[in-house]
Amino acid sequence: MGLIRIFGKATNFLFGKLLLKNHVFVSDSLVYLQRERVMDLNYFDYVRLAALELVSYEIMKKDLRGNVAELGVYKGKFARYINQYFPGRKLYLFDTFAGFDKRDTDLEKRKQFSGGDQDFSDTSLELVLKQMPDPENCIPVKGFFPESARDIDDRFVFVSLDADLFEPLYKGLQFFYPKLAAGGYIFIHDFNNDAYKGARKAVEQFCQEQNISYLPIPDLGGSAIIMK
Ligand SMILES: C[S@@+](CC[C@H](N)C(=O)[O-])C[C@H]1O[C@@H](n2cnc3c(N)ncnc32)[C@H](O)[C@@H]1O
Repeated sequence: MGLIRIFGKATNFLFGKLLLKNHVFVSDSLVYLQRERVMDLNYFDYVRLAALELVSYEIMKKDLRGNVAELGVYKGKFARYINQYFPGRKLYLFDTFAGFDKRDTDLEKRKQFSGGDQDFSDTSLELVLKQMPDPENCIPVKGFFPESARDIDDRFVFVSLDADLFEPLYKGLQFFYPKLAAGGYIFIHDFNNDAYKGARKAVEQFCQEQNISYLPIPDLGGSAIIMK
């Protein structure tokens, strides 16, 4: 075992309880994997990014046909990696680019899933496209989802659902799951986030109705993954 890994283990041994209390865990990862992985160390959520890299590799290896999408793009911080890890595939970017819609937040409050009061309006399509390594392959879909997706019919190998609220997430699953290729993945952010209880509810309800399963992962937002 290398010095750095020993350092990581010693850090956990000495400060593990304090770190865990602050939601930090120092861990080895993919120690026995020899292929080279491209990881941006500036992204704040290693587990989420590593999971994306791993599934993109599986999809590439199986030579699956289809495009990719994110619903809930905001400033494009995660979407830029979807664009990077799926070269040559169209990336649909679904967002109002003006924050939550009252139709969704009214229901969110009524059901007491969340306050729905976070402000995501300080973004723009131009700003998002500037973040993308391959903007030519991006298809912005600006507007209220699912209305904004009315004319879109495509096949998907990867979808990130990161709209926080019950209604767009549930509708997102209804829209994308039938269009997901066998072997494809849907990441749903905030499944284990107690500040956005509607995310878990949307996944649980959809999976129960469809008789399908999900995998919770320990990334920052507590995502769940659905695979076909
Ligand atoms: C948490 S942010 C997305 C964060 C982003 N994925 C990232 O990694 O930085 C949630 C986004 O979902 C969008 N959103 C929520 N409900 C929506 C709806 N019904 N239609 C379109 N966009 C929606 C909001 O506008 C907001 O930009």
